[in-house]
Amino acid sequence: MPSPDSFSSEPACSEPCGGTRAVTRCDILGKGQFSEEPNSLFRPYLSAAYRETVRQVAAWIEQGGLSARQDSAGNIVGRYEGTLAEAPALLIGSHLDSVRNAGKYDGPLGVMLGIEVVEHFARKGIRFPFALEVIGFGDEEGSRFPVSMLTSRAVAGLLPEAPATMEDNDGITLQDALGAEGFVLEQFPKAARKQGEVIAYFEPHIEQGPVLEFENKPVGVVSAIAAQFRFLVTLKGVAGHAGTMPMTLRQDALAAAAEAILEIEKIGKADSDHLVATVGRIQVSPGAPNVVPGDVAFTVDIRSGTESIRNEAATQIQCALQDLCERRSVSFSMVLQQDLPATPCDSELTHVLSRSVQTVTGKQARVLVSGAGHDAMVMAALAPVCMLFIRCEKGISHNPAEAVEASDVETAFQVMVNFIESYADNFSAQQEKIA
Ligand code: GLV
Ligand code: MN
Ligand code: MN
Repeated sequence: MPSPDSFSSEPACSEPCGGTRAVTRCDILGKGQFSEEPNSLFRPYLSAAYRETVRQVAAWIEQGGLSARQDSAGNIVGRYEGTLAEAPALLIGSHLDSVRNAGKYDGPLGVMLGIEVVEHFARKGIRFPFALEVIGFGDEEGSRFPVSMLTSRAVAGLLPEAPATMEDNDGITLQDALGAEGFVLEQFPKAARKQGEVIAYFEPHIEQGPVLEFENKPVGVVSAIAAQFRFLVTLKGVAGHAGTMPMTLRQDALAAAAEAILEIEKIGKADSDHLVATVGRIQVSPGAPNVVPGDVAFTVDIRSGTESIRNEAATQIQCALQDLCERRSVSFSMVLQQDLPATPCDSELTHVLSRSVQTVTGKQARVLVSGAGHDAMVMAALAPVCMLFIRCEKGISHNPAEAVEASDVETAFQVMVNFIESYADNFSAQQEKIA
């Protein structure tokens, strides 16, 4: 592995690097051994595809002149030392896991950009009074276990005890899934970083919405991330013979679920500017053509930039489900699985980032709220956070049609370089004031 300083005599990159290479690398990670599915991208936490991805990303990290390590929660971490050994770190990153049938850029683009930017400074032999670290988180989407952001929670110190018995869809516990990949459940919380060890967390990410494209802007700055609830609703009716059970006597859990889903949509639509409500997964039991469904379980995801609006919607949904289930003689439960409060980005960092956007693009930065969840929501418990959004085609995400322009990603790269330089200037000025 080359040491960072060996780059100082070789500043040029031997292949196209920066934003262009960040995109190319995401494309590489979008298929083959990096996916669990042969014809689409699905990379859940602690899968073989995730293992292969970490191996590849570690190689790129080392090739860039950073040291690489995998923490005890399975995140991949690269580090480029500052002027002093063991200096606190400015951490740049995003996630490497994906939803089912995913696009290639949701998550990995932020990690790849982080590597590019740190490699840029390593090649020039530039060191700062803080270390630069890059992190690829293992579980942001929650596409394997019922909750999301398990691994950033571990890093932020929010999981003093890992949920050992939490099961994935195949009944595999977190403990067993960790064990199968060579990790130890008891060590999982040791991924936590100490307060002060991370001075800021910076997450570059595709916008996943249409605003930047609509306004013809390559990048934008995030002011806050919307609050999220994730519920699991279970409906219990009575399974019966589809040929003999009269319609009037049925306790059909799936028909109740159908009505419930439309009610949820109606409640979500009532405040179209500030609220979204989604039923994204449903399981029907016994699931046979000739059986009246007895049991249904489905997820409800509710989000708003304003926590009180999200909370009120959850109450309305609970009341609506109660009413319709009573009317249909179906019992129901609605269990909260995840509560992520609205997260403001740090105002000072956001200001510096906005200035970098203005410097690089020559235009005032577009500041916007993120409806999508990000590891930054969790990392805010550890350090001040900021986020840079990159335009994506038609705002499409969580879909294989996800696409970015390399030139926009190059702009993001330039903004990140400028941000780190500006951050370093402010950091040094503050240190001088303290001294
Ligand atoms: C992750 O992409 C989420 O917003 O749920
Ligand atoms: Mn996502
Ligand atoms: Mn994401």
